[in-house]
Amino acid sequence: MATGKKQPIVQFKGILKRFGKVVAVEKMDFDIEEGSLVTLLGPSGCGKTTLLRMVAGLEEPTEGDIFINDNVAFGLKYRDVPKEAIREKVMGALEMVRLPGVENRMPSQLSGGQQQRIAMARAIVIEPDVLLMDEPLSALDENLREEMRREVDNLQQMLGVTTIFVTHDQREALSMSDKILVMKDGQKQQEGSPEAVYNEPANHFVADFLGHSNFIQGEVVDVDDHHVNVKIETGDLLFAENKGGFSKGDPVEMIVRAQRFDAFPKDEFKPVEGMNYFEGRIKDRSYMGGEVSYFIELGADREIHIISMMRTRLYNIGEAVSVQVSPHHCHLIPME
Ligand SMILES: Nc1ncnc2c1ncn2[C@@H]1O[C@H](COP(=O)(O)OP(=O)(O)OP(=O)(O)O)[C@@H](O)[C@H]1O
Ligand SMILES: [Mg+2]
Repeated sequence: MATGKKQPIVQFKGILKRFGKVVAVEKMDFDIEEGSLVTLLGPSGCGKTTLLRMVAGLEEPTEGDIFINDNVAFGLKYRDVPKEAIREKVMGALEMVRLPGVENRMPSQLSGGQQQRIAMARAIVIEPDVLLMDEPLSALDENLREEMRREVDNLQQMLGVTTIFVTHDQREALSMSDKILVMKDGQKQQEGSPEAVYNEPANHFVADFLGHSNFIQGEVVDVDDHHVNVKIETGDLLFAENKGGFSKGDPVEMIVRAQRFDAFPKDEFKPVEGMNYFEGRIKDRSYMGGEVSYFIELGADREIHIISMMRTRLYNIGEAVSVQVSPHHCHLIPME
């Protein structure tokens, strides 16, 4: 993770990119600080590659400006450097990615993970001010991907090279980034640290795209300095922290991550002052080893999804449970 406030090395100002009738990127304002790893995250077709290609100078913005401190690498060739110096740099880079001794092999003789590391070594040799990576891990299997994620992250920190990393994998983005830019249909949905984007999603799309979210619709019935009291469809009253400046009568959507709920057997449950709780019945369960996913039926045709870390026993289908969640984990957004 980068520390301290650094100068932006790349700045997008009012960027719009059109391909004929298609608007690939729209009204983009965004800064990338020197030395940081920034992820462009969003579904297929949202404009990630187009944004990256504009940084690389491979596409011209239709409107707006991109300010860049020169020397951006996007698979460039090494320029005007004596052969021996290149050789030394290549060896050094291969050692850095823990692959010494493969310099004479053909790409077909390397595994997918090794090829990725070679690609990184190549980028390291060029010593770019900004390193651009477009879904470099997408072809790898899950275990290797995880390993490579850590490797990219470690290398990036070690080298301190500003990196723009494109992915549509939320876990990749959350685990590696200093800052995430969440995009949809060419538009910025939110930018911020992984924690900010995950814990305080700006809208329904961001909450849905990152993590397992419950969306509970309701209306604000009371407000004080710290809390908002929301009446939900089941008639239950839930407290949320008052962060969004909501007023009485506002229609809202409450977002609660599946992992934030705790379920207890109904007849063993003791309510805790200041916590939200309601009752339901287990409708469905999937055992996933370390965790269990439950769908719990509340009243009024409502169900919630919870992911339990199995600190208690498994619950059975049909079993009555009490579900508890802290107001701290109930995030409110305006109803869209
Ligand atoms: N050269 C082009 N000509 C016409 N349309 C293009 C061109 N490049 C991209 N587009 C369109 O612009 C939009 C954004 O494309 P882009 O490749 O940037 O998306 P992406 O987020 O990288 O998607 P993916 O995750 O699938 O790689 C899409 O609608 C795409 O079809
Ligand atoms: Mg792309």
